[in-house]
Amino acid sequence: MIKKQHSIITGGSSGIGKATAKLLASLGNNITIISRDINKLEAAKQEIKSVCISPEQKVLALAADVSDRLSIESAIFTAIEQISPPDILITSAGIAHPDYFQNLSIDVFEQTMAVNYFGTLYCIKAVLPVMEKRKKGHIVMLSSGAGLMGIYGYSAYSSSKFAIRGLAESLRGELKLLGINLSLVYPPDTDTPQLEQENKTKPPETKAITATAKTWTAEAVGQEIIKGIKRNSFMITPGSEMSILAKIHSLAFPLINQYFDQTVAKVRKNL
Ligand SMILES: NC(=O)c1ccc[n+]([C@@H]2O[C@H](COP(=O)([O-])OP(=O)(O)OC[C@H]3O[C@@H](n4cnc5c(N)ncnc54)[C@H](OP(=O)(O)O)[C@@H]3O)[C@@H](O)[C@H]2O)c1
Repeated sequence: MIKKQHSIITGGSSGIGKATAKLLASLGNNITIISRDINKLEAAKQEIKSVCISPEQKVLALAADVSDRLSIESAIFTAIEQISPPDILITSAGIAHPDYFQNLSIDVFEQTMAVNYFGTLYCIKAVLPVMEKRKKGHIVMLSSGAGLMGIYGYSAYSSSKFAIRGLAESLRGELKLLGINLSLVYPPDTDTPQLEQENKTKPPETKAITATAKTWTAEAVGQEIIKGIKRNSFMITPGSEMSILAKIHSLAFPLINQYFDQTVAKVRKNL
């Protein structure tokens, strides 16, 4: 089903985006990856090319900032022109700056919302007319466990991932009527440059709260994303923790908060 399709993947030069791009390329997809750093883009393009199964497959790497509407629109229009309208759009570009709320400037909140939320919205708006015209397409949005429940130390990031979830849940029914499928991914902690970066500023309380969760590989999350696309799942929840959480988070939230507060108190005793 995925063979010979065109997938556009923002954040495709690293982590979950790159792993998913490679898996799609290994299934015969034409691939466009979009992010900012040209060196990372070029290196990822070579990696993606190396797993293609046919010399006819196209791999395009375009530099653009998803938080700049004109920049990302222009990249998407170039991809459409040079390859074809996209069958799949995956919005994986994202940033995370965990820290105590008092340490997070308003700039961080604005930047996180600009990249994670508006960077997702701009891409969807840019592909919608061609998907609508063709009455087909699949949009895959990346949220997070922090988009299901607010987590200590993640005030900027959680808000942006909740916003993505709100957008996805509202859009699902509207897009369905246009023949366009939508999936929302809640990846667990995944071993990527983003997680490495997060660990530098994560408060100790946040580290303790997230310590029990297993860290996934980007490839394993990518495989779950492909499975979710093939099954046309609205919610893609890699692993049992995310699957359970996605179903019962509201009911379980008082208990989860109790656990969070106890963990925070334990850590603070030793600070
Ligand atoms: N890793 C985890 O534990 C985890 C857990 C839950 C959810 N997620 C979500 O999964 C997605 C992928 O995360 P990851 O861990 O794979 O991160 P990553 O390895 O750091 O990759 C992020 C990608 O986004 C690109 N990017 C960042 N800002 C951008 C911008 N303004 N414009 C265009 N591209 C931009 C980066 O390239 P440039 O910097 O060169 O632009 C890079 O290609 C994110 O949305 C993240 O929030 C990750």
